[in-house]
Amino acid sequence: MGININNNIFTLHTLGSTYQMKVDEKKILLHTYYGKRTDDTDYSYLLEMADRGFSGNIPQAKDERTYSLDFLPQEFPVWGSGDYRVNCLVADLGSGANDCLLVFDRYAVYKGKYELQGLPAMFASEDEAETLEIVLKDYHENFYVHLYYGVYEKYDVITRAAVLENNTDKEIKISRIMSSCLDMNRSDMDMIHFHGRHANEREFERTPLFHGISELRSTRGTSSHQHNPFIILSDKNTDENIGDCYGFSLLYSGGFHMQAEVDQTNQLRVVMGIDDSDFKWSLQPGELFYSPEVCMSYSNSGFSKLSRNYHDAFLNNLIRSAWKDKQRPVLVNNWEATYFDFDGNKLLDIAKEAKTLGLDMLVLDDGWFGKRDSDYSGLGDWYVNEKKLGCSLRELTDRINEIGLKFGIWFEPEMISEDSDLYREHPDFALKLPDREPVRGRSQLVLDMSRKEVCDYIKERLFAIMDSANIEYIKWDMNRSLAAAYSIALPGERQGELRHRYVLGLYSILEELLNRYPNLLLEGCSGGGGRFDAGMLYYCPQIWCSDNTDAIERLHIQYGTSFAYPMSSVSAHVSVCPNHQNGRVTPFKTRGICAMQGTFGYELDLSKMTEDEKILAKEQVETFKKHYKLFQFGDYYRIESPIENRDFTAWEYADKNGTEASISVVFTDMHGNHLPHFVKFKGLLSDRKYNVCRDGEFVGVHTGAALMNGGILLPVPKENYDSCWFYICLEE
Ligand code: DGJ
Repeated sequence: MGININNNIFTLHTLGSTYQMKVDEKKILLHTYYGKRTDDTDYSYLLEMADRGFSGNIPQAKDERTYSLDFLPQEFPVWGSGDYRVNCLVADLGSGANDCLLVFDRYAVYKGKYELQGLPAMFASEDEAETLEIVLKDYHENFYVHLYYGVYEKYDVITRAAVLENNTDKEIKISRIMSSCLDMNRSDMDMIHFHGRHANEREFERTPLFHGISELRSTRGTSSHQHNPFIILSDKNTDENIGDCYGFSLLYSGGFHMQAEVDQTNQLRVVMGIDDSDFKWSLQPGELFYSPEVCMSYSNSGFSKLSRNYHDAFLNNLIRSAWKDKQRPVLVNNWEATYFDFDGNKLLDIAKEAKTLGLDMLVLDDGWFGKRDSDYSGLGDWYVNEKKLGCSLRELTDRINEIGLKFGIWFEPEMISEDSDLYREHPDFALKLPDREPVRGRSQLVLDMSRKEVCDYIKERLFAIMDSANIEYIKWDMNRSLAAAYSIALPGERQGELRHRYVLGLYSILEELLNRYPNLLLEGCSGGGGRFDAGMLYYCPQIWCSDNTDAIERLHIQYGTSFAYPMSSVSAHVSVCPNHQNGRVTPFKTRGICAMQGTFGYELDLSKMTEDEKILAKEQVETFKKHYKLFQFGDYYRIESPIENRDFTAWEYADKNGTEASISVVFTDMHGNHLPHFVKFKGLLSDRKYNVCRDGEFVGVHTGAALMNGGILLPVPKENYDSCWFYICLEE
C-alpha cells in the first residue's frame, strides 16, 4: 500500500521514499517527513515547540506561546495565520483583508490518479497510482482547499495540486496560489536550477541556499528560456551517483514562481506555482480553482537516479500522445535550409534527397501561408500561399507522400502580425490596451487566447488546413513573451486573470486538436526551448530543444535538459557549418552524435551536401533507427559533464535489463602530449561478457564488471570537436 493512514497520520510510501503529514490537536496539517523510505513512525517527535518571540499564536492556541505556525512545518501555509515565511495562498475571503486560517476537515483515498480540469496532469491506471485527498477549511468561512497527492510507488514520485472551492455566498479574491509546499527541518542544501536565454536554454547552476529567499520565476506568460520550472534540492555532497536529492517539476507552461526560503530556525520551505507577480483571481460563490500540478521525486542515490525517475514517470504517465511508445520519424526541417526563401520545387528537391538518405518526413517550417516572406507580416492568416508553393498544399503533400516521405507543417497559432488580414479585420483579437501602442516582440502581437471566439478562430483555421492535406506532424511554435497584455473581454479589475486564462485557452486548443487527430505527432517549440516544460510534454512527446543547433553548445543545453526530461522528448537536428548561430565548425560526425542524443533529424539543405556528408548522413540515420529502442527506452546516464570536464562530454544509454548499452563521447578540447581518457559504463551485468564496438568496428570483449569499473580507453581526438561512439551488447 502506498498510502497508510493511522488516526491522524498520513504516510505515503514509494519504493524508495516516505512522505508524512499529521493533523495535530489544533487541526493543523503539519508536514513531518520526506526522505528515504522508512516505516510508519510518527515523525512528529522531531518537532520542537518553543516560544520564539514575535511568532504569533493562532486562535486555537490561545496563550500557548510555544505553538506558532511561524516555525511549524506545514503542508499548505497561508498568509494571515502568523506564518511570515513564503506561503501557498493569499486570499481575501470577503473582509477586504487577506485573512485565512486553514484547518483539517476530511480526507479520502482513491485508486488511480486525480485529474485537474483544463490542466495537464500525470495519469495512471488504478494499479499504477493512488490518490489521497485532504480537505482543509477556513476556520471561519466555508472556503475549502482540497490538497491532492498522487502516489506513484514505482517511480518514487509524489504529485501534488490544490483545488480551491468557494462555498460561501461572497466573492473570494485570490492573489497568490502555489501548488505545493515542502517544509524540511534542515537547510544545509544546494539548489540546482536551469537558467538561460534564447538559443542557450537550461544551463545547469548549483548554488548553496542562504538565510532568506532564493527564487526563480518567469513573468513572461510562458515558462521561458530564462528559467525552467524544475529545481533540485540536494545534499552538499550529492553527485550523479550518491547522495540525497529532491526534484520539483511544475506541470505548467505559463509564468511560474519557485521559492526556497531558509528561515530563522534554519528550516527550509520550498513552494511553487503560478507566477503571482501579476495574478489575481475572482472566485465566485460555487466556483473551483485548479492549481497546476507539481511532480516531486526523491533519490538517495544521486542525480542520475532522480533523472531516471522523471524520465520513466514522464514517458509512461505524462506524455499521453499515441507517439509515446512509437518510433519517431527521422525528419528534415527546411528552416535553416531555406528560411523564408523556398517554393514547392525546392521542398521536393530536399524531400527526394531525404528519401535517398533514409529519412521519414519533411517538415515545412515558417513562410507557407498568407503574406509571409519575412517575420514582419502574415501571422494569423492561416491560408496556404499557393502562389509561393506553386501548387496547393494537397498537391505538395501528395507528391511528398509519393516520394515516400510523411509530411509535417509549422504553425504559430498564438500570434498575430499587425500586417495581416486577421489584424485588419479583428484588431481586438490582439492582447493590447485599446488606446496605447502595443509592446511588440519579433514585430508581432499575441492573440487573446482567453477569449473563446479567438480560440474558435484558431481551431477553425488549424482544422481546415489539417483536413486539406495529409499532415502527420505539427511543429507548434510561440515566438515572444507576453507584455502589456490586456484583454477587452475582461473587466479592468479582472485583468490579473488574463495570463492564466491564456494558458487555459492554449491547453484547451491542444486538447481539442489531439482529440480530433489522435495520431498527430505534435512537436512543441517556443523560439527553440522557451516552453520546454512538463505541462507541454503532456501534449507534445517532443519539443524543439533550442534554436541553437551548434553541436558543442547543444552539449550544455541537452545536458541541462536531461535532468528532468526524457531524451526522446529532446528534439535535436544536424545543421550546416559554419553554424548559423555561432559560426563554429564541427565535424559532420559529431553533429550526428550530438543530435542522436535526442529525437533525431536534419535542418539543412540536404541537396547541397557533399558526397562524403551524404554517406555519413545515411549511416547516421541507419544507426539511429537500428538502436532507436535503446535511445528511447533505455536508462540515461550523464557520464561526463560539459561543465566539469573541459576535455570531453559523454553520455550513456543502457537497456533496462543490461543487455546492451552505448556511450557517446564528444571532445571539447585538444592538447599536445595528449593524456589518456576513459569512460566507465553503468547499468551493466557485472558477470556477463559484452562485445564492444567503437564507431561500428569491433574492438574487443570485456566483462560488465570491467567496463563499469575499469572502463574503456578513448581514442586520441584527430581534429577539433572529434567524437566517438561505443556500442556494447551481450556476447551470445
Ligand atoms: C523559431 C523556431 O524555434 C525555429 O525553429 C523556426 O521555426 C522559426 N521560429 C520560424 O519562424
